[in-house]
Amino acid sequence: GVSSHPVSDLLFKNTSPNVVYTDDEIRSRYTYRTTSVTKQPNGQYQVTPKAQLYDFKVGRKVPKVGMMLVGWGGNNGTTVTAGIMANRRNMTWETRGGPRAANYYGSVVMGSTMKLGTDPETNKDVNIPLNQVLPIVHPNDLVVGGWDISGMNMADAMDRAAVLEPTLKAQLKKEMSYMVPLPSIYYPDFIAANQEDRADNVLEGSKACMAHVDKIRDDIKGFKAKNGLDKVIVQWTANTERYADLVEGVNDTADNLLKAIEAGHEEVSPSTVFAVACILEQVPFINGSPQNTFVPGAVELAERHGAFIGGDDFKSGQTKMKSALVDFMINAGIKLTSIASYNHLGNNDGKNLNSHRQFRSKEISKSNVVDDMVEANHVLYPDQGEKPDHCVVIKYMPAVGDNKRALDEYYAEIFMGGHQTISLFNVCEDSLLASPLIIDLVLIAELMTRVEWRSCAEDGAAATEYKGFHSVLSILSYMLKAPLTPPGTPVVNALAKQRAALTNIFRAFVGLEPESDMSLEHKLF
Ligand code: NAI
Repeated sequence: GVSSHPVSDLLFKNTSPNVVYTDDEIRSRYTYRTTSVTKQPNGQYQVTPKAQLYDFKVGRKVPKVGMMLVGWGGNNGTTVTAGIMANRRNMTWETRGGPRAANYYGSVVMGSTMKLGTDPETNKDVNIPLNQVLPIVHPNDLVVGGWDISGMNMADAMDRAAVLEPTLKAQLKKEMSYMVPLPSIYYPDFIAANQEDRADNVLEGSKACMAHVDKIRDDIKGFKAKNGLDKVIVQWTANTERYADLVEGVNDTADNLLKAIEAGHEEVSPSTVFAVACILEQVPFINGSPQNTFVPGAVELAERHGAFIGGDDFKSGQTKMKSALVDFMINAGIKLTSIASYNHLGNNDGKNLNSHRQFRSKEISKSNVVDDMVEANHVLYPDQGEKPDHCVVIKYMPAVGDNKRALDEYYAEIFMGGHQTISLFNVCEDSLLASPLIIDLVLIAELMTRVEWRSCAEDGAAATEYKGFHSVLSILSYMLKAPLTPPGTPVVNALAKQRAALTNIFRAFVGLEPESDMSLEHKLF
């Protein structure tokens, strides 16, 4: 399954001596420049530029990858599966608005570009697709599978989701009818009681146990073998669970968590059992829902096994808008004083969130998304802990189905006691926004499994052994509402910063400086 291309096939080649292309790898030697700041007793900041030399290696051989979704039969699971199949087969279908063709719009990897540099002849920027910066798996090549507590085949489940056009579904129906989710683990206490009637495809046992961990591991191994895959990435796109209580001796450390699973402790959620199985299997696991799957013990376990984890909660509609808009307002010097966010939706996610404990997970995830931007501006918010009022409401309204309504009012103080009020009405076709994020998360997580780094001394001598990035893949933050970061490191929610981190890290791997947008070449002549 592994494929690589000759260097001449790459869309660009860096001529710098700091970049070496081999058949197997792109190697770059990169100087990471930062600024160290210390406050002096007199209140002055002492600022010291720092430079750290790193070597990066990225594997050029693009593996054959499987994407296994937990909650495969849900709205996101069926939509992303159908979308990939339709793209793979280059499908078109009729709608009342005319024919439509499969695309990957909404995927940052597949649908966006990055400035490579400037053409000296034309003085114009040269932009390339993000997926051409590094060797990245094409989503058409993903083999998709997964688990669901509902045993409905994927064709019927796609109908149940009521997301895609009938003319498209008709073309996919046959192939999807052969796809049936694997039985999953179901601990009724973690999701809304109103989900019970769809739970007809469940493994025995309603509490965590090692047998469940082992079964999930076997499922992953089986899927890999059956499809001749090099790698599998697992993603939770199942129902939002309630938060697990953090209990000392239960989920606080890796060893305690493993013991708690063995003992069948009732505070271990299905999503955490999946995470543990994937970590032990060295398979990246990404959590697309808001619950606290990654209890401290799970994070420690991932670090111990050098396994990748990422989360939490897809950032698709309202929050994506919020993390762009608030970034703009506060960086424009406008003092945002309140955000009132109201949603209603009518899909099964909305039904599940209708239950208080599950709503609470979502509320927490949606509430902290502007904190970093507020904290960074002590001109507007001089008082410690001062922040805009922020309220999030979610209501279940079956009639609107998957077309979630998000209404937001942003209220801000402007010059001389004036106010700016921004009222947003955002109709988010939820699963069509989330599906490309599911793809991006898989593609980027997979890429990160092929990246290694080491630090070097000033004279260029290697100072450490090559190893992978930290287990917690915070590079995935752009796609996630409540980004998980390595313990003790800051969370970045601002959308522009998240994207810059992603593209600039990609650039470093191919020996390009971060994009500063200074464009001095257009200003100094
Ligand atoms: P859905 O309710 O249509 O699908 C969830 C699926 O998970 C269902 O088929 C259900 O049977 C299954 N399930 C529940 N517990 C399971 C378990 N223990 N094991 C295996 N399967 C299980 O929901 P949808 O719309 O697909 O969303 C999925 C998740 O993604 C939700 O938690 C939602 O909050 C989250 N999310 C969705 C966004 C979006 O659609 N734009 C944005 C952010 C997060």
